[in-house]
Amino acid sequence: MNPETIAPHGGHLINRIATPAETQEFKEKADALPRVQLDDRAFSDLVLIAIGGFSPLTGFMEQEDYETVVTDMRLANGLPWSIPITLSVTEEVAEPLKEGSWVRLDDPEGRFVGILELTQKYRYNKTHEVTNVYRTDDAKHPGVAVVYDQGSMNLAGPVWLLQRDPHPLFPKYQIDPIESRKMFLEKGWKTVVGFQTRNPVHRAHEYIQKCAMETVDGLFLHPLVGATKSDDIPADVRMRCYEILLENYYPQDRVILAINPAAMRYAGPREAIFHAIVRKNYGCTHFIVGRDHAGVGDYYGTYDAQHIFDEFKPEELGIVPMKFEHAFYCTRTQSMATTKTSPSKPEERIHLSGTKVREMLRRGELPPPEFSRPLVAAELARVMHQ
Ligand code: ADX
Repeated sequence: MNPETIAPHGGHLINRIATPAETQEFKEKADALPRVQLDDRAFSDLVLIAIGGFSPLTGFMEQEDYETVVTDMRLANGLPWSIPITLSVTEEVAEPLKEGSWVRLDDPEGRFVGILELTQKYRYNKTHEVTNVYRTDDAKHPGVAVVYDQGSMNLAGPVWLLQRDPHPLFPKYQIDPIESRKMFLEKGWKTVVGFQTRNPVHRAHEYIQKCAMETVDGLFLHPLVGATKSDDIPADVRMRCYEILLENYYPQDRVILAINPAAMRYAGPREAIFHAIVRKNYGCTHFIVGRDHAGVGDYYGTYDAQHIFDEFKPEELGIVPMKFEHAFYCTRTQSMATTKTSPSKPEERIHLSGTKVREMLRRGELPPPEFSRPLVAAELARVMHQ
């Protein structure tokens, strides 16, 4: 690894993408192998493992790592890791599979996409997992619901991803960690801040990104495009909004837009750590954590996802969290602000959130300019009323 880029988590960028020759070999053997169909989340995880986004993971977690991750937010070797990465299947699917053998992995559409070298299969405790990872066992929590719905056996072991086609919707934004690292180097960026998002971009997002950009060399805008809950705005709409925003309101040479193929877990604080580690693997040195990062409903405190960073030594994480207060539009200063910078009274603050925008759009209302840039609001309105 070039010494000028930040080290990946665990020291090495993992590459589990099969070479053309390996892909050929896997395809020849595939018909004779037992088959497991991945759901959206497991497919996203397979891709992220293979491209190194989940370095140092080389496959789905074995029991030892799984247990320490759930209980202590660490892999068995002590490295911080906050979210279990598991391939969960039913007992019936797991039963005939033999440890030590290969399993063919199909994507949710039934296409052959990868191989699992099955080293372990194990039963796990769902309640234990969700109360630790999601801090709740409420089945109404969308991340908890996914765990409750999935099978009760985990299949573990190293994986390979077959050669991929370009992303069907965002081919030019499919930038793997090896490429983003190269791009940062080419641009001469020594410090890069990563930004996670799953919502249509609004002015509080823009504000915190630009505050961060004042102190780092580049912004890596990394919207999540894997599975989200059904009432979230679709990824293609969100990406179009970002394109419009970047074309009109950002310096082109200081931002890279790329897709994060991950599925959303809504695990709040634990997911903030996970999101930061993934962006470190893409080469970011800094990571933005705002209000209720990766939260849902009122399961987490507004700044829990910031406080959790204090549970790790900075050098263990190896990426610097940039923490931002709840940003709003201040009618007194007529600018975006937080209580750190604005003397406003509460009634002088226009507080908005992705959830509020979704509600407004559903009612057929256009978000106001204090909330969304007009060109972005127009695009949102256009697609929502098609
Ligand atoms: S998330 O689930 O991906 O966190 P979202 O796309 O809304 O949701 O948020 C992206 C990032 O912006 C997160 O770090 C979040 O904390 C931050 N953020 C969103 N809205 C605000 C706001 N009004 N003030 C400060 N930070 C915010």
